Amino acid sequence: MGFDKRVAVVTGGAGGIGRATCRRLLENGVAVALADITQEKADEAVATMAGKGTIRGYGMDICDSASVADVSRRILRDFGKVDILVNNAGRWPRMPFAEITEEHWLQVIDLNLNGTFRVTHAFIRAMVQNGYGRIINLGSIAGEVGLPGFSAYSAAKAGVIIFTKTLAMEYAKKNITVNCVSPGMVTGDDGAPRPCQGTWVGRTGGRDEMARLITFLADDDSSFITGADYTIDGGRILGPRFADM
Ligand SMILES: NC(=O)c1ccc[n+]([C@@H]2O[C@H](COP(=O)([O-])OP(=O)(O)OC[C@H]3O[C@@H](n4cnc5c(N)ncnc54)[C@H](O)[C@@H]3O)[C@@H](O)[C@H]2O)c1
Repeated sequence: MGFDKRVAVVTGGAGGIGRATCRRLLENGVAVALADITQEKADEAVATMAGKGTIRGYGMDICDSASVADVSRRILRDFGKVDILVNNAGRWPRMPFAEITEEHWLQVIDLNLNGTFRVTHAFIRAMVQNGYGRIINLGSIAGEVGLPGFSAYSAAKAGVIIFTKTLAMEYAKKNITVNCVSPGMVTGDDGAPRPCQGTWVGRTGGRDEMARLITFLADDDSSFITGADYTIDGGRILGPRFADM
């Protein structure tokens, strides 16, 4: 395992999984551009990691093309390159299908799918020029097997998974790998895994468990892994869990 003077961008870096990922990358000597929807959110998260390594916060709204264009330019100017991109920002508002409006549908797709497109598109040329890249997109088990009440989100995440595979093929010869991490049942607001009958391991997943898989895929040595979608859900989608098991 190793990172050779790498620079990473993590979107949604102030959130649960994003923050854990930034911490893990910093521990491995990676310089981190932590991006989140506002500068205040990014700064607050960066302050919690002060002294852990090279990290800067950026307010970047991934639903706003101008913001993505401006901030991606600033990140490239500040760090000189981007080796690792973690497309992590996302939201999953629950709403029964009959009740959702077209506006709701478009917003959820725009954030979870188009946002991933915008940020990736903003950095891909620099990665090609750099001759190196590790792109890790956050999918979801919702995008693999669907989730009732989350039709727009499930459709968006299914889009993220197939976008990942397509990009992996397109950029394989450019030394850029593209993979997806699809969590399920990650821990709630308090940050601690809690008992959960819905998974075979009997608990929710921890944010740092997601961060470790993301960091593994971001590693220089993960060079032969591309186009993969990693389910990380404690066995949630394997099949029904019986009460006596
Ligand atoms: N937590 C889970 O159980 C779970 C399960 C499956 C997939 N995921 C995926 O993992 C990723 C991270 O989830 P999390 O649990 O850390 O969520 P979180 O809500 O803790 O963090 C998400 C972050 O994204 C940011 N964000 C939202 N809209 C944005 C925008 N327009 N521009 C920039 N940033 C924006 C938020 O400010 C927040 O900091 C998401 O893509 C989510 O869909 C999470």
